[in-house]
Amino acid sequence: MRLTDPTMRQNIQIVASAKNDALEKLKVIATNSPVAVRGIVQRKKGSNPDEKESPDTERIESWEIDLQEIYPLNDFPKDIIMTPETVFPPEQRHLQLRSDRDLREALRFRAQVRNICKEELDQCQPPFVEIETPLLFKSTPEGAREFLVPTRRRGLAYALPQSPQQYKQILMASGIPRYYQFARCFRDEDLRADRQPEFTQLDLEMSFATGEDIMTVIEGVIRRLWSTLVKEPAPSGPFKRMTYQEAMSRYGSDKPDTRIGMEILRIGHLLPVDLVQKITPLLDPIVEVFKLPGNDNDPAATHKFITDFLDSPAGAPFNNNPDGPPGIFVYDASKPLSGLMPFGFEAAELVEELLEPEHGDLIVLQARKRAPFSGGSTPLGDLRRALHAAAVATGFKPAPTGFDFLWVVDFPLFSPSSDSEPGQGGAAGIASTHHPFTAPKTAADVDMLLTDPTQAIADHYDLVVNGVELGGGSRRIHDARVQEFILRDILKMPPERLADFSHLLDALRAGCPPHAGIALGFDRLVAVMLGKESVRDVIAFPKTGKGEDAMVKAPSEMTEEALQTYHLRLRD
Ligand code: AMO
Repeated sequence: MRLTDPTMRQNIQIVASAKNDALEKLKVIATNSPVAVRGIVQRKKGSNPDEKESPDTERIESWEIDLQEIYPLNDFPKDIIMTPETVFPPEQRHLQLRSDRDLREALRFRAQVRNICKEELDQCQPPFVEIETPLLFKSTPEGAREFLVPTRRRGLAYALPQSPQQYKQILMASGIPRYYQFARCFRDEDLRADRQPEFTQLDLEMSFATGEDIMTVIEGVIRRLWSTLVKEPAPSGPFKRMTYQEAMSRYGSDKPDTRIGMEILRIGHLLPVDLVQKITPLLDPIVEVFKLPGNDNDPAATHKFITDFLDSPAGAPFNNNPDGPPGIFVYDASKPLSGLMPFGFEAAELVEELLEPEHGDLIVLQARKRAPFSGGSTPLGDLRRALHAAAVATGFKPAPTGFDFLWVVDFPLFSPSSDSEPGQGGAAGIASTHHPFTAPKTAADVDMLLTDPTQAIADHYDLVVNGVELGGGSRRIHDARVQEFILRDILKMPPERLADFSHLLDALRAGCPPHAGIALGFDRLVAVMLGKESVRDVIAFPKTGKGEDAMVKAPSEMTEEALQTYHLRLRD
């Protein structure tokens, strides 16, 4: 029998050199039961005498316990089958964790990441101070949809914070020069692999600081993490930077995976009208193109890959794009004009000049409305990302390796409001791209607030690695008058919503110093470091795609009694 240590990392053989009571007891104890054992630890016969040189596990392997007594501490029930192959459902998270070593290691790793972040921030001069801010907060329209917590006082509710943004700014007005926190945040939004309704941020803020100071601090944290826990080093100098406009035009995404090439180029002006009409109902569209290199000069394999993709559920949103489906071409030297016949001679030549395709490469064309970039991606950017993911999943392309860090900067301060995001609830038809506390980048951008706010650039920076938005932050508005002007005159918040921010305006008015900050998505950070697809793999008790904790079965129905306590009534 093998005895496993409580961390479940190592086990040691139990042997019984003589028949005794303990051996009889041992025989009836079910595997996986917790036990206390008394015995003599002895070297195994024929074990490695050079054990000092061996790793820990081997050193343990060369020892055994000669059993004298064994005490069962609890039973492992017979109705639970746990073999190395058993896959447990989320309802049995405790058994998932117990049977999946990787999952347990991820939680240990997560704790190490946290300690190292703390070490780095504690040793900065002056050091950052770890401060907890309240979780029972109030409803303020910062950007995401909130969770409310009703109270026994009729009609009064707290809101859980979507981030500690306002508290940390109040700390800056309170004479705390540098703050950080591993902050629990809550957002009632649609869930994806990298989104949970309840998640953790490494949140920080510095007074008398600019975005440059924040980026330097974060680069230090990342370098320390990577040099300690990841085999590949992070860049030794400042990380690359790219503007929002450049990221959107080259990659169709504000969080591009820059490792995978497939850069997007504009090609509209030379395309034959009938080709454009085939791919879009739009009258004066922008047409863009990218290339996915094929494999082994094999156009048939590329055909199969793209057909399978477009026929799969993953392809449906692209086929159904109201601006037209993608135009798909496989560059094939055996065909007339190498498969680019629909382009006509002139445009085919241009495509060849732009993309330098090789036999078997995939060429993807997509039209979009002639309008400035807004939001996080374009349909072609989404297709680039989805195609690459499918290429890796089907083995058509190898998975990219390494880490490519990037600061995406110069976002527009405001974006058109959308139905899916509540924004700040103003009546202006625009919402803050990130949150309404972000400062305009330059004096010219401040002036732009008076003339055309949609043209103003934000002093905001996102940290992106391998196509994941790891974090975002900004220099803040520290002048109460500018803050109030943005809330009232630009976002056009009604007076009662504006009043929700009076605490912040009061704090700014009290001589708040200039300040800047950032929050890293801590779950995403750990997932990226471990190469995990989903943040669920690095969270002990994650919520499912429906926002439920399948194990404890939350959320649960409110009882009549609870409804009464909180003065609530359910509508039919
Ligand atoms: P932001 O909303 O960009 O900024 O959030 C910062 C980072 O938090 C992570 N994140 C999430 N992780 C998991 N699940 C979610 N639902 C989720 N939502 C966001 C992302 C993101 O980059 N107060 C500002 C920060 C600041 O300005 O200082 C804020 O919260 O990695």
